[in-house]
Amino acid sequence: GLPERVTVYEVGARDGLQAEAVPVPTAAKVRMIRELLAAGLPMVEATSFVSPRWIPQLADAPEVVAGLAEAGLDLARHPVLVPNDRGLDRALEAGAGALAVFVSATETFARRNLNMERWEAVEAAQKVTERGALEGRPVRGYVSMVFGDPWEGPVAPGQVAEVARALLDAGCYEVSLGDTIGVGTPGHVGAVVDAVVAAGVPRERLALHLHDTYGQALANVYAGLLAGVETFDASVGGIGGCPYAGSATGNLATEDLLWMLTGLGVETGVDLDAAMRAGLAVTTLLGRPSPSRVVQALRPN
Ligand code: HMG
Ligand code: MG
Repeated sequence: GLPERVTVYEVGARDGLQAEAVPVPTAAKVRMIRELLAAGLPMVEATSFVSPRWIPQLADAPEVVAGLAEAGLDLARHPVLVPNDRGLDRALEAGAGALAVFVSATETFARRNLNMERWEAVEAAQKVTERGALEGRPVRGYVSMVFGDPWEGPVAPGQVAEVARALLDAGCYEVSLGDTIGVGTPGHVGAVVDAVVAAGVPRERLALHLHDTYGQALANVYAGLLAGVETFDASVGGIGGCPYAGSATGNLATEDLLWMLTGLGVETGVDLDAAMRAGLAVTTLLGRPSPSRVVQALRPN
């Protein structure tokens, strides 16, 4: 059966904004995060301490974290992405309260996204995780390209499983399986989840991070629910995508996810209307309509 309750992990302020060319002011990012938290989202990823040359939009990461601290927020609910030791130093210096590391299931994307070999990236993430844990920070792990890679094609579930297991072994409290380019389909979801669980990652430590490029994200969430996953990543307004992933487009929209979960009777603790207002503020700032079908249906503009 379906779980009674799931966790929606909001990535709009990070994954949603990272590829945006329109500069978003720091104050608007802080406001977005505060509004999402106020809407009831339990985890709202804040920013990335990556190279500002690679991701100029998030060059203000220290100021975003400072803004959240000033607002009195619990920084443990606002993880920040960290790719390497330099990023960890910067994140700790800024006062970040939780971290997220990210690796690729494939060789090509590890090089394109992190300028590292696949296993070199895993070891860098393990190092960050171990050091972060020693500093008392919970660390989430991401695995990208779990259903397919634009350069390598289909990805063997075993390749995903060994990387996910390595992140867990290093101390990640959760591993989020990323369909970076949205090519997954529901039958595939169960197979990948089962392979990762068979490699020793407890089902309750898994999350799904689905991009909606091919319109499969909600169907894949449903498959994930049936496979026992209880945490789902989403981006308000459906914004986002990884600039180094070729065909990546928006994440699954938080609003669409909330609509489906509500209909299924699965609790999230999130107020759809409040989340939608936070999303509309962001898509208005970015100067385009929300791609979320729920937003289009409820707030035609
Ligand atoms: P590199 O160019 O190989 O870095 O990039 P390097 O180690 O050779 O260093 C070059 C310069 O960058 C040095 O400065 C470093 O200090 C600096 P210089 O001496 O030339 O003045 N540098 C840094 N500065 C600030 N913060 C840092 C940092 N590290 C080095 N952390 C690097 C390697 C990993 C830095 C780069 O490839 C990078 O930043 N990559 C991140 C790309 C990214 O953010 N991608 C999007 C996030 S992942 C994603 O979206 C997928 C996900 O959503 C899940 C899914 O959908 O699948 C999570
Ligand atoms: Mg992503």
